[in-house]
Amino acid sequence: MSNLDALKQDITAAVQAANDIAALEDVRVSALGKKGKVTEMMKTLGKLSPDERKEMGQALNVLKNEISAEIDARASMLKNAALNERLEQERTDVTLSIRPAQKGSIHPISQTITEISDIFADMGFVLTEGPEIEDDFHNFTALNFPPGHPARDMHDTFYLPDDDRQTGDDAKRLLRTHTSTVQVHVMQNQKPPIRVLVPGRVFRSDYDMTHTPMFHQIEGLLIDKSTHMGHLKGCLTEFCRRFFETEGLSVRFRPSFFPFTEPSAEMDIQCDRSGGELKIGTGTDWLEILGCGMVHPNVLKNCGIDPEEYQGFAFGLGVERVAMLKYGIPDLRTFFESDVRWLRHYGFGIV
Ligand code: DAH
Repeated sequence: MSNLDALKQDITAAVQAANDIAALEDVRVSALGKKGKVTEMMKTLGKLSPDERKEMGQALNVLKNEISAEIDARASMLKNAALNERLEQERTDVTLSIRPAQKGSIHPISQTITEISDIFADMGFVLTEGPEIEDDFHNFTALNFPPGHPARDMHDTFYLPDDDRQTGDDAKRLLRTHTSTVQVHVMQNQKPPIRVLVPGRVFRSDYDMTHTPMFHQIEGLLIDKSTHMGHLKGCLTEFCRRFFETEGLSVRFRPSFFPFTEPSAEMDIQCDRSGGELKIGTGTDWLEILGCGMVHPNVLKNCGIDPEEYQGFAFGLGVERVAMLKYGIPDLRTFFESDVRWLRHYGFGIV
């Protein structure tokens, strides 16, 4: 039996000395292959007496299994080591720029949101956000669009496929069609006085030169005890003059309709369209810039604010629209095509 022990020791030493899979395979063949040392010993069993054969046969089987297990363990160790070495050598830093020579720039949408936020921050508005996946209550009902109201149909809403809920059910989920939803969250969670500005993505099922299924809006909301239409006019006039960098810019407020404001208005700024070119701040034409109004008492009530005690104004504007006007960008769709040449042309440098 001791020569079996010696054989095992030899083979174990050879297994441990094998430094790659090919060398290990050689060791396996020389021990367990057709002409291997263990196999050769198996062949001699026939010459032994039945008792010896039984004892020797069992011992050889044990030896064979032990060697196989050692070889398998060594093989998986060598494979792991080889993989780790490769991983070490082929390491890539995924945070590196793929084109190190290319300098990034700020997208006109981000730039415009920053500019607008800065102006309203100076007037005491606090920046806030809300969810993009909303429910019917926040997008419509709380904002005084009752179920079945025709103004709901104007929004080309993307509903989520909640099969157990019907459109018009307050809990029906949807992608918000306007940032006015955040008015509701803010009024439900904050006590007046309130002054918030809400930039964000909104979604509508529409696509052409002037519509994309996702675009950006900025919502403003101010609630206090004695807020009136004069405050709305002053605040938005000051905003337009600063945003378009035109001191004496003329503006006008046209009566309009939104279910969540009463009275409602659209604000236009002075422009000149003669010669096929649009110039802001001169001329006798008007250009629509945003929607606004005094918050409807029903909206205050729906959000837990007493309309006898508080009133306020709200406004909403399209970020792409004002960015196109300010920076002379002709096609809305190009904002979202991720074309580096477009961004190089219209983007803003990082300071
Ligand atoms: N939510 C309106 C829209 O998407 C925009 C708007 C109009 C917002 C008037 C307002 C507002 O807060 O007072 O068309």
